[in-house]
Amino acid sequence: MKSVLILNGPNLNLLGTRQPEVYGSETLAMVEDRCRGHAEALGLAVTCVQSNHEGVLLDHIHAAKGTHHGLVLNAGAYTHTSVALMDAIYSVELPTVEVHLSNIHSRESFRHRSYISRAAIGQICGFGSFGYLMALDALQQHFSGGAPI
Ligand code: DQA
Repeated sequence: MKSVLILNGPNLNLLGTRQPEVYGSETLAMVEDRCRGHAEALGLAVTCVQSNHEGVLLDHIHAAKGTHHGLVLNAGAYTHTSVALMDAIYSVELPTVEVHLSNIHSRESFRHRSYISRAAIGQICGFGSFGYLMALDALQQHFSGGAPI
């Protein structure tokens, strides 16, 4: 069975109360539950982790090598700043799908740049928590060697 690490970065622990008009009203626990249910239906194992600390996120990406087969990453604001997270994804060589709840390309210009995108197999944004389920679908497709990724 393929295993996926779903990693959420800074401030995503506040989902549900944090700017619900931008990020929706579901809590992170609700989003993670939906991911577990969808992963089960796809025949994937998932582990969900959230941290507000860049170094902790790096440690989880490093530890994923040899443990998990793919990553779903919402790096929050570190998306736009962290060369270190990008380098970690390159280093572990795990297929990574970048997710954002909001459409980062329709927001402030500083959100348009993603360091994660350079190392990811693809980016999903603007579909709220449904994006995480789409990311699991994309990874499963990737694992099975299916087109287009
Ligand atoms: C986010 C978008 C980022 O720009 C922001 O800093 C977040 C959340 C999203 O899921 O839409 O923390 O990654």
